[in-house]
Amino acid sequence: MAWRREEAYRRMARKMGYRARSAFKLKQLSSRYSLLRRGEVVVDLGAAPGGWMQVAREEVGGEGFVLGVDLQPIPPFRESNVRTLLGDLLDPSTAELILSHLPRKADVLLSDASPRISGVREVDQARSLELAEAALRLAEKVLREGGKALIKVFQGEGLEDFLRDFRKRFEFTKVSKPPASRKGSAEVYVVGKGYRRLTP
Ligand SMILES: C[S@@+](CC[C@H](N)C(=O)[O-])C[C@H]1O[C@@H](n2cnc3c(N)ncnc32)[C@H](O)[C@@H]1O
Repeated sequence: MAWRREEAYRRMARKMGYRARSAFKLKQLSSRYSLLRRGEVVVDLGAAPGGWMQVAREEVGGEGFVLGVDLQPIPPFRESNVRTLLGDLLDPSTAELILSHLPRKADVLLSDASPRISGVREVDQARSLELAEAALRLAEKVLREGGKALIKVFQGEGLEDFLRDFRKRFEFTKVSKPPASRKGSAEVYVVGKGYRRLTP
């Protein structure tokens, strides 16, 4: 049953020209929480091969801007307002690199970054948490006051501490699992709106 659902998303992604079936997760979350709007500047962390970037570009349109960052090269886009960057979100110098490629601070920060899965649940969860924390630290530098964020994290130990930090920084927060996310997978998506910077 789950396999059939996955296969259906995969087929739909191919038919609609999306680079990854994860595109549907962002579509579902964005429509549920009104995350992406026309003209917005979006930073997408852990963005390869670029499925989320395609959805973000559709939603922000020609007046917006989308920057995708990944350890792996992201195949380029034809649109001049969609850019890609090789970068490690765990590297403290990545924030400056991102800022230097943005027209202004981001309205939306997305992170679908995942560790390479080892199969050992605790190890994978700790690495996912590390990536989610790095994404939240990057928000401090690249997200505008009042901005929005969507960060993937695996459920497990440490999630509550992460959520506590996350909730301090956003007026509205929600933990969500979109229908396109496999039921058995540990991933959840943390949504934040109304960003407030804690440090002056
Ligand atoms: C599930 S994929 C993202 C799929 C993407 N949202 C899409 O729709 O095409 C997770 C990505 O996180 C990236 N990643 C993992 N660790 C990273 C890091 N430290 N810095 C940047 N990217 C990272 C991986 O290279 C991988 O491409």
